[in-house]
Amino acid sequence: MSLFDDLEQVYQTAQAALEATESVAALESWHADYLGRKGAVTLQTRSVGQLPKEDRPAFGQRVNAIKQALEAAHEARARVHKRAALAATLAAGAVDVTLPGRPVAPGHLHLTTQSLRQLYAIFAQMGFEVYEAPDVELEAYNFDLLNIPAYHPARDMWDTFWVDPSSPSTSEGIEGGDEARLLLRTHTSPGQVRVMRERYPEPIRVILPGKCYRYEQITARSEHQFYQVEGLAVGRDITMTDLIGTIKQFARLFYGPENDVRVRSSYFPFTEPSIEVDTNCTLCGGKGCRICKYTGWIEIAGAGMVHPVVLDNGGYNPAEWSGFAFGFGVERPSLTKYNVADIRYFYGNDLRFLRQF
Ligand code: DAH
Repeated sequence: MSLFDDLEQVYQTAQAALEATESVAALESWHADYLGRKGAVTLQTRSVGQLPKEDRPAFGQRVNAIKQALEAAHEARARVHKRAALAATLAAGAVDVTLPGRPVAPGHLHLTTQSLRQLYAIFAQMGFEVYEAPDVELEAYNFDLLNIPAYHPARDMWDTFWVDPSSPSTSEGIEGGDEARLLLRTHTSPGQVRVMRERYPEPIRVILPGKCYRYEQITARSEHQFYQVEGLAVGRDITMTDLIGTIKQFARLFYGPENDVRVRSSYFPFTEPSIEVDTNCTLCGGKGCRICKYTGWIEIAGAGMVHPVVLDNGGYNPAEWSGFAFGFGVERPSLTKYNVADIRYFYGNDLRFLRQF
């Protein structure tokens, strides 16, 4: 057999071996076997010396042509293997897009927020707009302007968290914050004078919702922080009957028609006359429990006719104007409405409680 035939033989074997490769790894060793430095085709070039001189160029050209053809075939084969490998990984890692997704729990509003929104909606029906006053308040608005001077024994009704005026973050944004004493408002009533001073000489019908703070013992029926919704109506001929009608309408809408409300006479320095509003305790059905202090009734609001001194402090002449005011709790009325036996749950952030509403 001539060296030319040998060459063609090696070429054929190489082609057949290439066809037989099944993986990228097999392709690599095929390349070493035939086209590497010691590969079968590469070694053919060494035979050239054994040929007669005139045959050598033709042999050399043929070896080169075979090398090129095999390199091209190798590349084509490599592409086939890579495509197959990619298809295999894609198939193995496939996501079933038809599977149902995992549900995302959206959460819901806190019971306090729900109750506040009910209160807003009920008072909106009666024509009250929402007015917001600050949590960090001046002593004057919280007490003096509400007819509670420093010596007044009624100050004992509101145990106060005083704000340290040397703390740089506290006095910002409150006018007069530099010289006057600051506190965390003990009730929402200070907003009354703020609205009056802003709205004079317009008639007023607003609610003032907000957080209040008291330096007090926490018990099942009272927290040291709680919400109130204050109400204020100022006009030319406002009477006690308007106040009681408003409160009764509120109770009907908040609790439903079967619930009872009673009004007792009371005392607040900023109203004259003053009343307190109770609703029957649904927690014990009127038998008496620790929430209702064993009376069968729960206090839900203080109220009264705005004191002439307070009207005057707001800029409204008490000889021409009259008004009523009320201050509802938010958590306490919710206790009976939702049958919650302890006010501390509202601030406990226990999901087992919160999820029930
Ligand atoms: N501010 C009173 C308190 O927190 C509640 C109150 C009583 C508000 C009578 C009023 C009112 O507007 O007229 O105890």
